[in-house]
Amino acid sequence: MCALVYLGSVGKVSHSIINAIHVTSAYRNFGIGKWILSYIEARAKLLHLSQVKLRTFYTNPARRLYLRHGFQDVLVDKNWAFMEKKL
Ligand SMILES: CC(C)(COP(=O)(O)OP(=O)(O)OC[C@H]1O[C@@H](n2cnc3c(N)ncnc32)[C@H](O)[C@@H]1OP(=O)(O)O)[C@@H](O)C(=O)NCCC(=O)NCCS
Repeated sequence: MCALVYLGSVGKVSHSIINAIHVTSAYRNFGIGKWILSYIEARAKLLHLSQVKLRTFYTNPARRLYLRHGFQDVLVDKNWAFMEKKL
């Protein structure tokens, strides 16, 4: 499994950006993705960041995971959903 995450401040807005999350196919649907999201949010809170952002293909089934985890679409175009969760 791996997650590429930026945890830091951008200008005046402090937020975390999840660049990519990948769980090896044999280990999917066991809750590892949910655990990774919870870990990222806990780390971001420790750093006093106010939100977590990510981008995913609108049709990616991962979007369901993000919605369940409290992320909301802030912008949707032809292909992409830009999602955010306030901490
Ligand atoms: C997205 C991903 C990290 C989730 O990891 P996971 O350990 O399977 O996640 P969980 O077990 O906590 O949650 C299961 C949810 O993951 C999502 N999921 C399952 N298989 C998936 C797949 N092949 N591709 C994308 N998302 C998937 C679904 O939302 C699923 O929920 P559902 O039961 O309602 O369908 C993993 O499926 C993956 O690596 N997918 C391929 C890479 C990818 O699409 N990454 C996201 C890019 S933004």
